[in-house]
Formats: sequence, structure tokens, C-alpha cells
Amino acid sequence: MVVWARIRKDFPVLNQLYEGKSLIYFDSACMALKPVQVWEAMEYYYKYLGACGGAGRSTHSLGVETSQLTEEARVKIASFINARSQNEIIWTRNATEGMNIIAATLPIEKDQNIVTTSLEHHSGMLPFFKKCQEVGCELRLVDAKPDGTFDAADFEEKIDDKTKIVSFVHASNLTGTIAPLEDVVKISHEHGAWVVSDEAQFAPHNKLDVKKLDVDFSVLSIHKACGPTGIGALYGKYELLEQLDMFLVGGDVIEDVVYENGKITPKYLPPPHKFEAGLQNYGGMMGAGAAIDYLQKIGMENVHNREQSFSKRLLEGILELEKFEVLGPLDYKQRAALVSFRPKSDVMNHNDVTEYFNDMIPHHKILMRSGNMCVHPFQYQIGINPGKGEGITRASLYIYNTMDEVEIFLTELENFAKALD
Ligand code: ALA
Repeated sequence: MVVWARIRKDFPVLNQLYEGKSLIYFDSACMALKPVQVWEAMEYYYKYLGACGGAGRSTHSLGVETSQLTEEARVKIASFINARSQNEIIWTRNATEGMNIIAATLPIEKDQNIVTTSLEHHSGMLPFFKKCQEVGCELRLVDAKPDGTFDAADFEEKIDDKTKIVSFVHASNLTGTIAPLEDVVKISHEHGAWVVSDEAQFAPHNKLDVKKLDVDFSVLSIHKACGPTGIGALYGKYELLEQLDMFLVGGDVIEDVVYENGKITPKYLPPPHKFEAGLQNYGGMMGAGAAIDYLQKIGMENVHNREQSFSKRLLEGILELEKFEVLGPLDYKQRAALVSFRPKSDVMNHNDVTEYFNDMIPHHKILMRSGNMCVHPFQYQIGINPGKGEGITRASLYIYNTMDEVEIFLTELENFAKALD
């Protein structure tokens, strides 16, 4: 049994008064808080090791232990998403870097195309936009339905046998929509296309099984999974990682650089080291391993179930007020644990909501994010104009939140809504 009150105690951020008020942290879709176990793992590295890792670099005791602990963390990530082997996991700085690695190293011809959707985070879209501009191939956009759900008919129309890769968000950071990734993968594979899934919002909250989904690549954001900032992971089927070009080159990606007759011939390492040039974020990797241990101990099914009960109440409570436009599907079962909304009235906008909850309510600060969440195209599609400063406020939940917090928020939102009349 999970003792959730005990879990909450692992997050000292929540156990302080900030400017004299208790904190209700509703911004985990941007950044999850970190439990003590994560910084203890990092502290161990910085306090007791502090050395270089990497195969064959520093073979003294501190270097060996650093390499051992970072490779153990890689194994933990592989097991967390059910990859076939740790060699399918590449350390990155974040999910954005994972997408950029794939786009930059993807072998693609001018007459091929890339398919993505209007609901992608800019990180799942712009690296492929850039690639298409460079190569001269076509980027095809599938419009999400107005409620943010998957438009299979439009997808079937856009994809063809010349599609090289499909970039698809598994759980949207804007609408919360959970995509039917199995269907996307199946249709894409029928056309011989690879699929990269953006798991930044899905993997920290659900059991992700890349083998079962048969997805070709996935990008993960560790800081949204209770891990440190500046560390992420890219999953790829090994045989596909082998087909990608080199990304950054330099130290740590080579077996040898032969010098003969005034010419150099580099011999590169196989995946995953092929993509990990230069000294790495060893402390971050250890923190990532501790974050995965922490979530695994709770159990991803428990994480999902608890969040879903809160997000049901959150969604229904906001809708009941009838003063706010809510983005995304109205069925909580189709959604991640986040709700993006904006006042229907133009008396106040999304930033006023966020400021009000940060500064104006008694006893608490309720911390949310407002703006466009790096998903401008879908907002243009549904009539929100980021170029004119329009946007939404987002409340997003995680393992340390409580139903009491959801209720406090809804009561205060009702008070705020009175000012909209
Ligand atoms: N993309 C992250 C968010 O949705 C940063 O907040």
C-alpha cells in the first residue's frame, strides 16, 4: 500500500511556508518537484566521487564507480520503459534534445516526407520542420480534432509510402489528450514509416511499454519525472539507432581516430555511446536513476490511478463553474492529469488567473503556468491567437498533490469566477 502522506514528506518544497503561505504546486507538467532521494543520489556523486565517467576514460576507482553508477541508471531507464536493452537508451539534456538528435541524424531523401500534428509541442515539430527545410522534403501536418483528439482520417490521408517518420505526442502538455499510440504505430508501419513518440508528459504518469507499443523512438524528460533538470533520455530500437548518422562528434564517441598520410579516419562507437559526445552529466544520470527507483517503488499504476481520481474532480469542477473554456476532451479517461482553461469573459485573461492564484488568495499560493505551453499551432487552429498575447492557464498534478488541494483550488476558482460577472 502506498502511504501518500509519507510520499509528500519526501518533497520539502511543499513543507515550507513561502512568503508566509502554504504552497499548492499545480505546475508539474512543466517541472516536477524532486524528492530527497534524488538529491541524495546526486549529492553522493558530487561529495564522494566527482570524477569522470565514460568507457575507458578514467580507470581509477572514482572513475570506475562513476561509470558503473551511470550505466546502472541507464539500465533503470531501459527497464522503466521496457526497452530490450540499455543500449537502446541514450542520455540527452532533455526531450527537446532527443527530438533534435533524431531529426538531425535521420536519413531522408528529398522525395520523402515527415508527418506530424498540430498538437505537437514545438520540440516535436520544429526539429522536423528544420530538417525538411534543409533537405527539401515535405512536412505534413495532421490537424488534431478541435477537442485535441486524434483525427485518424486526416492521418490516413497525410501518410503515404514516402513517409519516413511520424512525430507524435503521446500525452499533450496543452490539452492533456492521450493519443492512441498503438494505432498511430500500426498505420505508420503499414507505410514503412518510423514513429517517434513524445513521452515527456506520458511516461512520468503511466506505465510506458515501448516494446509492446512497437514504437521506434521515444523521447523522455526526466525533470518531469521527479528527476533533476538538464537530463533526459532518448529511446530507439537498436537497429534503427545504428542507421542514424552521427550527431555531435568529439570525445567519447570514437573507438579510434587513425592518422595516416596527413589524413584522419575516425572509427565511431556503436549506440548508445555514438550519440554521447563529451563529458556527461554524471550527477544528473544518478539523480535520474534515483527518480526512476522512486516512481517504480510507488508503482506506475498507483501513480496513474491516484492522479486520475484528482484530475476527474479538477476537470468536472472547472466545467461546473461554466465560466471557463476548457481545452481538450471532456472525458477525464482520455486525459492526462492536467487541465488548461481560460476565462470565457474578456474582463480577465489567462495571466490574471495565474497572478491571482499566486498572490491574491488567503493562506495559499497556488502555482500554475499560463501562456501557450510551446504549442502555438493548435491554439491558432482553435481560435486562440498567441501572436496577440492570448493563451491559457494550466493546472497540472502529480504524486504529491492531494484531493484537499484540488478542493481548495476549486473553491478559490469559484471566488475568482464571481469577479468575471
Ligand atoms: N513543455 C513544458 C510545459 O508544458 C515545459 O510546461
